[in-house]
Amino acid sequence: MSRLLIAGAGGHGCVVADTSEMTARWERIAFLDDRFSELSELAHWPVVGRLSDANGLQGEYKDIVVAIGDCGVRVKWLERYGKAGFGRPVIVHPRAYVSSHAALSAGTVVFAQAAVNFGARIGLGCIVNTGAVIEHDCSIGEGTHICPGVRLAGEVSIGLYSWIGIGAVVREGVTIGNNVVVGAGAVVVKDLPDGVRAIGVPARPV
Ligand SMILES: CC(C)(COP(=O)(O)OP(=O)(O)OC[C@H]1O[C@@H](n2cnc3c(N)ncnc32)[C@H](O)[C@@H]1OP(=O)(O)O)[C@@H](O)C(=O)NCCC(=O)NCCS
Repeated sequence: MSRLLIAGAGGHGCVVADTSEMTARWERIAFLDDRFSELSELAHWPVVGRLSDANGLQGEYKDIVVAIGDCGVRVKWLERYGKAGFGRPVIVHPRAYVSSHAALSAGTVVFAQAAVNFGARIGLGCIVNTGAVIEHDCSIGEGTHICPGVRLAGEVSIGLYSWIGIGAVVREGVTIGNNVVVGAGAVVVKDLPDGVRAIGVPARPV
């Protein structure tokens, strides 16, 4: 069994650690965090270095996942670690559903009770948070965060580094651009261009 590093020891990092532990794929899980060495342990997982210390730990740890909330920063570190030769697993909670006809890219995490259905394609370093539903043939660009309880109907397309807020709903076939923020509880029924922040029912850019 291999060992896993988790870059980022915040609340999201703890959920990633917990999810990783549930998969029983790694014999040891440890964090990297820039608060090292003041922070040396979180829950029962050790903090073994700063984010930039990963290379020196490659003899011990083969796999790494980045658990940083900022979408762009998360992907940047993931790319850096990939170039350094780390394995960048897809981590799926054993009580999530992922269709065998869905395609998930490196460094994506899928939390408990989430569902990723037939034909969905999810890019590098995405977060499919607790209880989110990604219906058939959706396409999600790298670094995008699908927050807890989001429901994407079939054939929704979302660009890069977007953030779909907790409990939002997106109608089938809608296209959402890059760097979009959809507010908590919004209902998106029309396409949203790059860079907007949209809230409400129906969701409108503000
Ligand atoms: C949309 C959002 C990004 C706006 O954040 P913000 O810029 O800090 O906005 P504020 O809290 O200052 O609110 C500004 C106004 O928008 C309203 N507003 C904020 N979020 C809203 C939402 N989701 N739906 C409807 N109205 C909202 C506020 O009531 C406030 O209205 P007012 O000016 O009449 O008082 C944020 O509220 C949100 O929904 N974030 C998603 C959080 C989330 O999904 N977390 C899960 C993490 S896993």
